[in-house]
Amino acid sequence: MPAKVDMEKIVSLCKRRGFIFPSSEIYGGLASCWDYGPMGVELKRNVKEAWWKAMVQDRDDVVGLDTSIMMHPGVWAASGHIDSFTDPLVECKSCHLRWRADAVEGEKCPQCGGELTEPRMFNLMFKTFMGPVEGEGSIVYLRPETAQGIFVNFENVVTTSRKKLPLGIAQIGKSFRNEITPGNFIFRTREFEHMEVEYFVKPGNDEKWLDYWVKERFEWYAKLGIKKENLRLRQHGKDELAHYAKDCYDIEYLFPMGWSELEGIANRGNFDLTQHAKCSGKELSYRDAEGGEKYVPYVIEPSAGVDRSVLAFIIDAYDEEEVEGEKRTVLHLHHSLAPIKVAVLPLSRNEKLTPLAKEVFKHLCPNFMTDYDDSQSIGRRYRRQDEIGTPFCVTIDFESLEDKQVTIRERDSLAQIRVPVEGLEKVIEAKLKGEAFDASTLWATRQK
Ligand code: GAP
Repeated sequence: MPAKVDMEKIVSLCKRRGFIFPSSEIYGGLASCWDYGPMGVELKRNVKEAWWKAMVQDRDDVVGLDTSIMMHPGVWAASGHIDSFTDPLVECKSCHLRWRADAVEGEKCPQCGGELTEPRMFNLMFKTFMGPVEGEGSIVYLRPETAQGIFVNFENVVTTSRKKLPLGIAQIGKSFRNEITPGNFIFRTREFEHMEVEYFVKPGNDEKWLDYWVKERFEWYAKLGIKKENLRLRQHGKDELAHYAKDCYDIEYLFPMGWSELEGIANRGNFDLTQHAKCSGKELSYRDAEGGEKYVPYVIEPSAGVDRSVLAFIIDAYDEEEVEGEKRTVLHLHHSLAPIKVAVLPLSRNEKLTPLAKEVFKHLCPNFMTDYDDSQSIGRRYRRQDEIGTPFCVTIDFESLEDKQVTIRERDSLAQIRVPVEGLEKVIEAKLKGEAFDASTLWATRQK
């Protein structure tokens, strides 16, 4: 099944409407690095907030954490990342381009047809030096996953949170990987944000909890508007499991380049806690309050990428429609993800309309992310709000000056209702929460 939109259209919309720009663009850009513009930063914050709400706030068995990006190098030796976090790399003997060996079909360079070297293992961690002296003794790594910050704090969190197992620890933060072949816009980059939970359980209960988290995470994307036909599950084959994993499922999304991983949910067994206990010399086990039994917990890890989720939400929401003979591009984003919830649009920049329009804006903006726009024709302003996915536009016209009512236009149905300025925020709040937008209600006066 081909995806409905190609990536160029998404990249172009993201640039045009201030979602995502190439990093360091005025210097020609930096490969695989991207900057989030005014709309992108709101969308990204909303994705992280939706995740934190579902994973931490709405539950009593998960707590949050925020650990540093640079950690003791011993962490990465213990976790296996220094020895095993590698990809096989081949180099073209003619043009010297480097490729992931498993991404090259045949034995020739995909760029120039030249001969390739034998594969060698390439470590994906970025290295830097801590302090003023550069040398073996001052090497530190930028974390390639947030998970290790959670494992090394397991004891701290269990003793201070007074929680029993099963217990999850959640973290959102930047990770870095020196990917050999980044690409597909923000799908695979060298700097990205992770949203990870390490869910600690009693050994023997791990398979049950793996099933639970696979279902829970699949539903999270669907609840936020991703169409179920664009999502699927795939269990990892034994030969593709990460060095720490006993079992793993990918939630895949139908991206424009085909089905690709959106999130991984792994059963990490007791690999990490055992390794850190061995290498640090600190015991990392748990004593069951009821039975008094002592064990090293197993870990189920739902691990998602913020940027990859943002990309999937944009692609899935993207639509091109014909309205009254004109093409409109619209993002049908879930209300909770939309960067701007409501736009205040006076019919024109007219000195009689401006005071009421500004008053409405001042009323709404403490409650919702609100945009104010009075330049260009009303039609063009609607198109812009459609393209950034704004669920509601509030229009102030000359009648509004008389009857103190405004028109609310809904993004998806294009239906319009007329409501009093007094109490407008309550109406918008209810509609944002999902109350039906019924253009035949008492206040409805017009329908497009
Ligand atoms: N701690 C486990 C872990 O990191 P992973 O499958 O390597 O597992 C989890 O990564 C998620 O992080 C992926 O499903 C993806 O959404 C995101 N991710 C991984 N590498 C990425 C990259 N180079 N660029 C953007 N997102 C990435």
